[in-house]
Amino acid sequence: MSREEWKRVAAREAAKFVGDGMTVGLGSGTTVAEVVRCLGGRKPDAIFVSSSSSTQQLAEKLGLRLASLGEHPKLDLMLDGADEVAPDFSMIKGGGGAHTREKIVASAARRVIIVVDRTKLVSRLGEKFPVPVEVLPFAHGYTARKLEELGGEPELRKTSAGEPFITDNGNYILDVRFGEIETPAELEQVINQVPGVVENGLFVGVADEVLVGHEGGCARLCSKEDFLRFIEDNVQK
Ligand code: A5P
Repeated sequence: MSREEWKRVAAREAAKFVGDGMTVGLGSGTTVAEVVRCLGGRKPDAIFVSSSSSTQQLAEKLGLRLASLGEHPKLDLMLDGADEVAPDFSMIKGGGGAHTREKIVASAARRVIIVVDRTKLVSRLGEKFPVPVEVLPFAHGYTARKLEELGGEPELRKTSAGEPFITDNGNYILDVRFGEIETPAELEQVINQVPGVVENGLFVGVADEVLVGHEGGCARLCSKEDFLRFIEDNVQK
């Protein structure tokens, strides 16, 4: 099975958590797009709140019922992807630049299920992925310097045309390498105190469960013990 197939296997399982009458937040990215495709095939009688324009467009095209967070400030469930997931379910998100809205929508949800392929599991955050930080364009040079003072190596995210990447909120993204992150909860707070920062992609204490697509199908991880057992059984062999 390829990585794309692992994503699809996990996405199919994730879509099963959506039932009639539910209000459901949708994250962003290629894995969530697979979840949305599964939901589009089944069309449950649920209301969806999207966290990005790309997910919104896909969901609309597939005929899902969409509403705003203002109309539904309390959600039953949020389904989202991640760039890295650590054993305690802390995460790095924002590879698609949508983490600010994703964090808001997740905070409105009673239950958050993260859908990933097994390559996203890490023993410590920052192993592979930088921390995306959404910043005000006006402040980005200054904010980058302040993030350097915190020990980070910021790089302005650019499009393939070499222009600054613009988020759905009209801001820039600094991808900041901190090396392996020992205390993500602390770093999450400290980054958000830098003037010009809108929100960063460290998500701590957000995910309730993680669905992992892998060679053997989809694993449902509900605890750190599940995570470590999965690694022992599937990744290190
Ligand atoms: C979007 O900003 C992110 O938070 C995504 O959830 C994350 O980048 C995962 O995306 P993929 O499913 O495309 O890997």
